Amino acid sequence: MRAGTLTLVFGLLWLTAFSPLHCEPKGPLPEEKLLVLTVATKETDGFKRFMRSAQHFNYTVKVLGRGEKWNGGDYMTAPGGGQKVRLLKSALADIKEKDKIILFIDSYDVVFSSGPKELLKKFQQAKHKVVFSAETLIWPDRHLEDKHPHVREGKRFLGAGGFIGYVPNLKEMVSDWSGEDDDSDQLFYTKVYINPAKRKSINITLDSKCRLFQNLHGALDEVVLKFEDGRVRARNVLYDTLPVIVHGNGPTKLQINYLGNYIPNVWTFETGCTVCSEDLRSFSTLKESEFPVVVIGIFIQQPTPFVSAFFERLVNLKYPKNRLNLFIYNQEPHHDKHIRSFLESHEADYKVVKLIGPDEGVDVITSRNIGFDMCRDDIDCEYFFSVDVEVVLKNEDTLKILIELNKPFVAPMMTKPGRLWTNFWGALSADGYYARSEDYVDIVQARRVGIWNVPYVSQVYLLRADVLRSELKDSDLFNSATLDPDMAFCSRVRDQGVFMFVTNMHSFGRVLNTENYQTNHLHNDLWQIFENPVDWEERYIHENYSQILNGNIVENPCPDVYWFPIFTERTCTHLVEEMEHFGQWSGGGNTDTRIQGGYENVPTIDIHMNQVNFEKEWQKFLLDYIAPVTEKMFPGYFTRCISYLNFVVRYKPDEQPLLTPHHDASTFTINIALNSKDIDYQGGGCRFLRYNCSIRAPRKGWALMHPGRLTHYHEGLPTTSGTRYIAVSFVDP
Ligand SMILES: *[C@@H]1O[C@H](CO)[C@@H](O)[C@H](O)[C@H]1NC(C)=O
Ligand SMILES: *[C@@H]1O[C@H](CO)[C@@H](O)[C@H](O)[C@H]1NC(C)=O
Ligand SMILES: *[C@@H]1O[C@H](CO)[C@@H](O)[C@H](O)[C@H]1NC(C)=O
Ligand SMILES: *[C@@H]1O[C@H](CO)[C@@H](O)[C@H](O)[C@H]1NC(C)=O
Repeated sequence: MRAGTLTLVFGLLWLTAFSPLHCEPKGPLPEEKLLVLTVATKETDGFKRFMRSAQHFNYTVKVLGRGEKWNGGDYMTAPGGGQKVRLLKSALADIKEKDKIILFIDSYDVVFSSGPKELLKKFQQAKHKVVFSAETLIWPDRHLEDKHPHVREGKRFLGAGGFIGYVPNLKEMVSDWSGEDDDSDQLFYTKVYINPAKRKSINITLDSKCRLFQNLHGALDEVVLKFEDGRVRARNVLYDTLPVIVHGNGPTKLQINYLGNYIPNVWTFETGCTVCSEDLRSFSTLKESEFPVVVIGIFIQQPTPFVSAFFERLVNLKYPKNRLNLFIYNQEPHHDKHIRSFLESHEADYKVVKLIGPDEGVDVITSRNIGFDMCRDDIDCEYFFSVDVEVVLKNEDTLKILIELNKPFVAPMMTKPGRLWTNFWGALSADGYYARSEDYVDIVQARRVGIWNVPYVSQVYLLRADVLRSELKDSDLFNSATLDPDMAFCSRVRDQGVFMFVTNMHSFGRVLNTENYQTNHLHNDLWQIFENPVDWEERYIHENYSQILNGNIVENPCPDVYWFPIFTERTCTHLVEEMEHFGQWSGGGNTDTRIQGGYENVPTIDIHMNQVNFEKEWQKFLLDYIAPVTEKMFPGYFTRCISYLNFVVRYKPDEQPLLTPHHDASTFTINIALNSKDIDYQGGGCRFLRYNCSIRAPRKGWALMHPGRLTHYHEGLPTTSGTRYIAVSFVDP
């Protein structure tokens, strides 16, 4: 019963407080009374982000100044913004409804974090007719500090980037405006606010505790992102408020770009991007002959492994070649032959190919500009796809995927295997260099998936031609007295308000390590097992090797002799060519000079791996690829693959056709056929005498593995014509 009484008392209070006798409307303010006004003379990426967030929450937005020339100054450097006051004043003059509520807000660097209902409720709770966003720092005139009323808690200074109020009050506020377009709006509104009479009559207050507006300038430490139930909200932890509008004003552009990746809900843990993919460009209705024309710029600025593989992938890119123009810049004579061999077979397939070689004296920066111009100057060109040669584009659909995203600047996320390195930076340090953002690792490891606005991208990106012809039309985008060309470029792009997006919604590929790439061999890629093990494996290890460990493809032609695929055709060819290129085959019987410990008890015509400086790489190959097979086939035997005798043997009828029966000085031996019977030679093979068992048809790229001493006394069967090559290792002597 007591409870009942209390309820009644509160009920009465409620009725009194919100009695219709009061002249103020006491229910929630109707959403249709709210109109958002913003000034945008250009549809920048920032403006589009603002509009997306407004649409997401169902704000009604009217854009002022569209297509007008912006005279309001650059708010990054100097006061300005008078043009915004002029446009507001004239827009207000057209609005007759007295109970209309206007939210006047910047748009290039603003996102909504919640909807009209919450905004209006908080406006109502502020109990004033006009509410301005508040600032920690006073600007532009510090001398006015004393004139500002004190606030009990929160920010004391006015921010012109956002305010909300009733039309009549706002009209009164701007009625005295007669300034120039490049005068300061901030100073104008500040003078109104610090004038006690005007403040009272217009009924202005500040949103000191960021319940409606969060300006980030000077307030970065106050704001955190809260992730809850797959939704994201910015929270001011200093005042424990949830601002409805977040404004990356002053030098906080990067931070609003970062927050804009998450709010309003453009992104979810489960599905990746949602809102950010609404203006996709589709290929589904296009015939191949209607695909957008793309200039692919290929930049070779240092000796790089696997360049032939790069061009093979270029050929395999899923895009009609007659819609592609190629711009190839090569600074390295070493790679001339790779380009020549690519062009010989494919130049005619492409629309246009332009090549700048190492003799032409064109520097790196100039080459980038020439590449961009090839697209800018071609009215058909719709995109420029920039790819540095160390980029390994595994995903053949990359170009289409990027075009579909329909962004002015978008890059595929590229990684380095086993490392946190990528081609983008999540944040910048104060001096403009790399800094790790808090979400960087989650993005790299694809725990967060989406399209990310980031401050730096390198090595591979797609640029829309319209941006190259407008925001990025300068010919010195890569020039800087202090920054590297890639950093200078990104800083120009950021300054032009072009968002650099990187997507990790697909897996695209990786970037090669180019350090320690030596060019003194015939097939230098063979030496890349340490620097680029993934690419080395793809190039040189048999495609079915991985099935050895889980499948049943190892054959067992003789007792305890195992036979399995290990090398690609390419490995075999490269090894043989490398040895023939070196050419110093040992004479029969002359084995002692190169061999420590005299293990080689049967002489062959051979070249040892250490003679071509391939010993370390070969050891690594044994350890990474042979040891696992050994341990599977001979369970209980563990090997560290110690081997001092690793060599390529050459059998020829008129040189050395065969090898007489012998034991190997090894625990086990690997014998890999490097060319093809019936194609390259006749005869050959291997016979194990104890078992009277022969392998007479060796397979190119396949290894024989057998015990060395005691049981597997064997002979090399005669090669009757041609030349046969095998690679041999005596393991664990
Ligand atoms: C916006 O309006 C649409 C349709 O009127 C509605 O389905 C949607 O839930 C609204 N969005 C929000 C965030 O209120
Ligand atoms: C502003 O208006 C409210 C009523 O809406 C009133 O209660 C308040 O006193 C006014 N403030 C000033 C400073 O005039
Ligand atoms: C790998 O195995 C598949 C299936 O057995 C076979 O078709 C293919 O030819 C093999 N690849 C090579 C290079 O031998
Ligand atoms: C060895 O095998 C061959 C057939 O493969 C046979 O002709 C020969 O007689 C065998 N030799 C011995 C000693 O068993």
